[in-house]
Amino acid sequence: MPVIALQGIRGGVGATSITAGLAWALHRLGKGVLVIDCSADNHLCLHFNTPFSLTAGWGRAELDGLAWHQQALRYCEGLDLLPFGRLSVDELPRWSARHQQVSGRWIQYLNQLRDSGEYDWLLLDLPAAGMPGTEGWQEAADALFCVLNADANSHIRLHQQPLPPGTRLLLNRFSAESRLQQDLHQYWRQHLDALLPLAIHQDEAMAEALAAKQPVGEYSTVSLAADELNILAVWCLAHVTGSHP
Ligand SMILES: Nc1ncnc2c1ncn2[C@@H]1O[C@H](COP(=O)(O)OP(=O)(O)O)[C@@H](O)[C@H]1O
Ligand SMILES: [Mg+2]
Repeated sequence: MPVIALQGIRGGVGATSITAGLAWALHRLGKGVLVIDCSADNHLCLHFNTPFSLTAGWGRAELDGLAWHQQALRYCEGLDLLPFGRLSVDELPRWSARHQQVSGRWIQYLNQLRDSGEYDWLLLDLPAAGMPGTEGWQEAADALFCVLNADANSHIRLHQQPLPPGTRLLLNRFSAESRLQQDLHQYWRQHLDALLPLAIHQDEAMAEALAAKQPVGEYSTVSLAADELNILAVWCLAHVTGSHP
């Protein structure tokens, strides 16, 4: 059971949207998928038609002394979701104090999930790079995709933020109409071995999918972004293997 962690190089680059879309694409390829929200933003579940009023999730359960594995939801046969859960602003310091310890414990939980044989693929939606406490998740994953946009801010961060060895870079919101984006893309292709050989384009369907609370491939099977996420899913099947088959 390979585990892929997806993390934005900063907030807002599309990591959560891609996690939801990739989960859907792997599911459509006949794979059993569990997708876990590791971020206190708790946005991932909103790509899977949950109501705003839903507060349950594994992070919420940690603070309430409840069992994490009872918080999973079935989106459809073969695609399950574990939300983070909603924390109030007042609870965030309590969460931050426990975060490191909890993410360490997740290495055991992921091994339990691997041993259970219940899923073929596990996807983790991590908080953006630089947020404290994500190292445990990065280490637990078999592959780490760092999502970035072709802009100067991502370029600066590539120079300033060290990435764990083996991290692959995934370009999102690419628009060939922008001269700057074209230039950066070409430069990165020449200089960054870690850049994945496929990109996700800027696509209105991706933006609309979140408004419709669906993964993009479900919202619009014919959209460019859905097509590109299918290609990413096939790439994952060919290139990502689990450390504990
Ligand atoms: N390829 C894309 N084309 C158009 N809009 C996108 C694309 N990817 C993401 N978005 C939009 O960008 C916003 C931020 O995406 P999100 O996945 O929440 O980013 P992150 O998880 O990195 O903070 C959302 O409104 C989403 O719909
Ligand atoms: Mg996110």
